[in-house]
Amino acid sequence: MPLVTTEKMFKQAYDGGFAVGAFNVNNMELMQGIIGACQEENAPVILQISRGARQYANIKYLKALIDTALAETDLPIAMHLDHGDTFDICKQCVDDGFTSVMIDKSHAPFAENASVTKQVVDYAHQNGVVVEAEIGQLGGIEEDVVGVSADDVMKHVTDPTEAVEFVKQTGCDSLAVACGTSHGAYKFKTEPTLAFNVIEEIGNRLPGFPLVMHGSSSVPKEFIDLINKYGGNMPNSMGVPEDAVGKAAKMAVCKINIDTDLRLALTAKIRQVFAENPGEFDPRKYLGPGREAIKQMVKRKLHILGCAGKADICR
Ligand code: G3H
Ligand code: 13P
Ligand code: ZN
Repeated sequence: MPLVTTEKMFKQAYDGGFAVGAFNVNNMELMQGIIGACQEENAPVILQISRGARQYANIKYLKALIDTALAETDLPIAMHLDHGDTFDICKQCVDDGFTSVMIDKSHAPFAENASVTKQVVDYAHQNGVVVEAEIGQLGGIEEDVVGVSADDVMKHVTDPTEAVEFVKQTGCDSLAVACGTSHGAYKFKTEPTLAFNVIEEIGNRLPGFPLVMHGSSSVPKEFIDLINKYGGNMPNSMGVPEDAVGKAAKMAVCKINIDTDLRLALTAKIRQVFAENPGEFDPRKYLGPGREAIKQMVKRKLHILGCAGKADICR
């Protein structure tokens, strides 16, 4: 089937108390691992491409991989720009055939964020593309922007009143909110508590409106242990507990972004293969197991998010 927007998946997710997984793709192994997991679990999926991924892989290669996934499966797949920072990059992605774009001006003042978002919404909607926007600030590093520090994330959660006004002014289709999560593998110094009250309050004030949670990797300890065992050095990494991710998925959060955990799965497996087979130099012998590790990680996520088995109702 052709690419879909996120409209139907979000409606089903909102009504059904689950969230759709949005996974970052940069290369063929990530693409095949994600799609393989979604096929086995019959799950809808959002494949998201950052500006860095566009530069790294060349969008034409990534689009060809996605076209192949569409031809080989019957899954509802949305192709999404992750953290677009200008009108121009969002326009480029709309013109390139993306079905969803994110404009992220969350670091700019409210008025500037709202006005650029509105410009993107107008262009995207004319072309049948949906728009995710962001208000509030996350921690960690997203693209080249350094977010607030791990100690300060709770001070920068989204203000529900601003969120309502922002959606009204811009007409965006979904909204990424800051509720205490961060990007990357070093999200917290101690076990976190997310600001579920913020999600709940925005949800109550915008009934039926889909929210998005970024920075949702859980940084599973067993993968960090494997990476460190096989020559890595990732001390003090910590992610969002999986039960907190599952709880958000049952609320108004309809899209949950995961990148870091896939990177960890791939890295841990490649390190293990190299450590156990120092003479190995055939990329298929380490990228193949790496791809399988990505697939297993995505399957785990689909169950936490509750979107396993939900492909049919999202077509
Ligand atoms: O939010 C950022 C995503 O994890 C994408 O990361 O910009 O390194 O591709 P990237
Ligand atoms: P993680 O770094 O927690 O995987 O978050 C990814 C993300 O939010 C991409 O937009
Ligand atoms: Zn993000």
